[in-house]
Amino acid sequence: ENVGSVKRQLALLFEVSLRTTVPSEPDVAPLVEPCAAKSGVKFGDYQCNNAMGIWSKIKGKQAEFKGPPSVGQAIMKNLPPSDIIESCSVAGPGFVNVVLSRNWIAQRLQRMLIDGIDTWAPRLPLKRAVVDFSSPNIAKEMHVGHLRSTIIGDTLARMLEFSHVDVLRRNHVGDWGTQFGMLIEFLFEKFPNPEDVNEAAIGDLQTFYKASKVRFDSDPEFKQRAQQAVVRLQGGETRYRDAWKQICEISRTEFHRVYERLGVHLEEKGESFYNPYIPGVLEELNKKGMIEDSEGARVIFLKDVNIPLIVVKSDGGYNYASTDLSALWYRINEEKAEWIIYVTDVGQQQHFDMVFKAAKRAGWLPADDSLYPKATHVGFGLVLGEDGKRFRTRNTEVVRLVDLLDEAKNRSKTALLERDTAKEWPEEEVEKTSEAVGYGAVKYADLKNNRLTNYTFNFDQMLNDKGNTAVYLLYAHARICSIIRKSGKDIEEVKKNAKIALDHEDERALGLHLLQFSEVVEEACTNLLPNVLCEYLYNLSEIFTKKFYSNCQVVGSPEEDSRLLLCEATAIVMRKCFYLLGIVPVYKI
Ligand code: ARG
Repeated sequence: ENVGSVKRQLALLFEVSLRTTVPSEPDVAPLVEPCAAKSGVKFGDYQCNNAMGIWSKIKGKQAEFKGPPSVGQAIMKNLPPSDIIESCSVAGPGFVNVVLSRNWIAQRLQRMLIDGIDTWAPRLPLKRAVVDFSSPNIAKEMHVGHLRSTIIGDTLARMLEFSHVDVLRRNHVGDWGTQFGMLIEFLFEKFPNPEDVNEAAIGDLQTFYKASKVRFDSDPEFKQRAQQAVVRLQGGETRYRDAWKQICEISRTEFHRVYERLGVHLEEKGESFYNPYIPGVLEELNKKGMIEDSEGARVIFLKDVNIPLIVVKSDGGYNYASTDLSALWYRINEEKAEWIIYVTDVGQQQHFDMVFKAAKRAGWLPADDSLYPKATHVGFGLVLGEDGKRFRTRNTEVVRLVDLLDEAKNRSKTALLERDTAKEWPEEEVEKTSEAVGYGAVKYADLKNNRLTNYTFNFDQMLNDKGNTAVYLLYAHARICSIIRKSGKDIEEVKKNAKIALDHEDERALGLHLLQFSEVVEEACTNLLPNVLCEYLYNLSEIFTKKFYSNCQVVGSPEEDSRLLLCEATAIVMRKCFYLLGIVPVYKI
């Protein structure tokens, strides 16, 4: 059964204690955190930090308390008995330090090995979420920004799904807008017979887009036809609808090549999907008195924003904002999503800020951000090249994502084939491993940084087998698997017959870190920060290699069985981290 993370379980114990210690303050929530090492020394595994806050509230009201340390002493004394805790102490201004019981850590690990890691999934206070990610624009370039959105969004979706949230993975593709008039007219010109239209004939849609733009800008007669085409498309004329579908379909095949390589699944509900909802949604906002006229356009003025949100352009057309307002309305009211998450570059922050403010004013979302339903913009920084400028490749102006991913795979294949072991592998295994490593490296290089910072795209760095890279981590995992294989034992049998013991200090450190998986995923979900999970994974691998495996002999030692179980638990947790980061594990190197 799922008993919740260590942090949560301790919080429950401290909650009981706080109610006894300060009955006059029933709303004080327990503040429990893992202990940080101070100059290399730790006083416990976790600490409760309530004493000072409580002291400032009750000063003079409860005579037995002389200051924060005495409050800490009382919190410690009032803890209910529990087999989680080995010992407690009070330090400094009342911090209550907790040392966890080795036996209890060992038992929790053993249970996980039997019941599976899914029993360690965090529990979140919501049922359904929308993650709006990737979302490239039809016929325009799918660029590294969309790659970041795809990678980050997929991880967030995976973490929420693991935490039992029903996730609607939405690809909000830009498939509507005035550019289609131009594209369709150009298509008619180039291919008078619609049957001749296919990907091979059109070639690169971006080039096609550029050519049609040149035509649009240089020929007023064409421009006029293009503008009429938009009207005819939006009016639903078959010939125009069909051409629009053809163009979208070609773009889609392009996008799918990227998604296929990355193993990312998305459900397309593009801008066009929400178009029919716009008039009704704007009417609702209008009735609420939110929409005003401004220089021929219809706009919403919002608190603390110096520009208005334009919802109907001066030519009467709808725009990005009217679509997003309708999409948000739909997601809250029709899809009943409680958390709507948008993954785009930080440049769109103001747009989302305004859309969310409008939704709050309309009463679709509560004003208090800590309540559900809520909407969050997950922004990210730029991808930079070696030169510190926006990432581009040498010869072309833009980076084709498919080429980028293929290069990562090919480079990792070359490196793999330089290893003696891999030389005898069947071709299929080489392919699978170089894909796992190559694509994994691109993803990890992106995810390991705080998403708001810009990051520099560098193949040599991300494909290095030392340091904080996917390659290093995947190999570390493969090495653990090979330790287990070399023991010659059937790990399922060991699970049944042996018990985990954590007598060595480094066994205990590894065991405790493993147990913290659940609260780390919870934090990564709550704050929508994949780098938190990357950091955990990297530390896990370091603790395993530098502490446990360096100081505790596994195969051939008297503790062999117990230590094999620790290896297995580490491999299982690492694989779950990989899975949540969208990285395919490798078992052999
Ligand atoms: N198509 C947009 C772009 O490429 C991203 C869409 C993000 N999602 C949204 N609901 N606005 O910049």
